[in-house]
Amino acid sequence: MTGQKKIRIKSPGKIRSPHIIDKMKALKVSEVYVDFDLSDFNENVVDTLSKSELRSQGNESGIISPIKQKEDILSAECPSQMTSIQTSMNEELNFAVDIIAETKKAQSQLYENVLQGKTINLKALKKSTNAIVASIFRNPEALLLMSQLSNVNDYLVEHAINSCILMSAFSTWLELDEALIFDIAIGAFMHDIGKISIPKSILNKPEKLTPDEFEVMKKHVIYSKQILEKIPGISPVSVNVAAVHHKRLDDSGYPQKLIDEKLSPWGCMIGIVDTYDAMTADRFFQPACTSQESFEVMKGNTQQFDEEILQQFINCIGLYPVGSLVELESDRLAMVYQPNRAEPERPTIVSFYDTMSRHAISPEIIDLSFAANDSIKQGVRAKNYNVRRDFTLLKRIAQASCL
Ligand SMILES: [Fe+2]
Repeated sequence: MTGQKKIRIKSPGKIRSPHIIDKMKALKVSEVYVDFDLSDFNENVVDTLSKSELRSQGNESGIISPIKQKEDILSAECPSQMTSIQTSMNEELNFAVDIIAETKKAQSQLYENVLQGKTINLKALKKSTNAIVASIFRNPEALLLMSQLSNVNDYLVEHAINSCILMSAFSTWLELDEALIFDIAIGAFMHDIGKISIPKSILNKPEKLTPDEFEVMKKHVIYSKQILEKIPGISPVSVNVAAVHHKRLDDSGYPQKLIDEKLSPWGCMIGIVDTYDAMTADRFFQPACTSQESFEVMKGNTQQFDEEILQQFINCIGLYPVGSLVELESDRLAMVYQPNRAEPERPTIVSFYDTMSRHAISPEIIDLSFAANDSIKQGVRAKNYNVRRDFTLLKRIAQASCL
């Protein structure tokens, strides 16, 4: 890639010696994008690098702008303090990076504790979910954007975090009582925890499950409920969210044993959120759907999904949710960066890929409400363009947002 604006990429390749880096410097290569899935670095190294790069570059080049005093914001513990603080998208993205990293660690620790038969400490659990809810209160878009980044190898942990983010944002959008939002967030975070008791051969099976295997898999809901009920001080709302997350409006769903559990409004909400996140995530056995495809599937199933609650969810995260990928009429691929509540079909986006030449281009931030000559053609699946919605892409998007 050479020059200031024009970018040329011949073909991807592996850098095997420092000599190649010197050669690239001599050729005035200005940017290099690394696919860490193909790299020898392990994921944790990538996470650490990405975080520190985001922070250090933020101070020097404004990739993520200097933020309000972190301690001031993160020390806000009670709901009234949390709601009084608002942040910009760039400021909140800075927090979101830390929140996701910390929450991933906490979730893994939770799994360990459950596997060892230890009781889960509600205070420790709340530390993770409160951080997510507080971020949503400050600015919901940052974590919603992060929830679109995926790692197919880490689905269980990411799904737990994404469900918590989406349910917190959805509950906040519906203006539910603040205490209720915190309880719902815990239920969403823990709804699939019972899956750790399912044999790995079934849980991670890349092919379709046999009927017998599916019966075993269904039991994860019962296990989740049992694990949650053992937590001293847990709210019945949190337990209910986990217990009914596969129950549907027409009393279908599973497991049959829990079918008498009351399908509460938050039960309807978690059913929608769980389905949405599962459909829009890359899995071993299926590529991610677009958000619009997942909305259409659920809209076509009014027996199982409450129409009004589903429409509210779509209104909440937007027709083109932040972090989702869209194709523009100008034959560019872009990530949605900021929603537009007045004109949902014209959000602010960051273009980063030419769909005709199938090459990366310099990211450009575009507010479509002011773009007379461009608009969204359609939502697209990342896989169709061999693009990964990952941390590397987020960094490029964040760079563009501060141009
Ligand atoms: Fe589940």
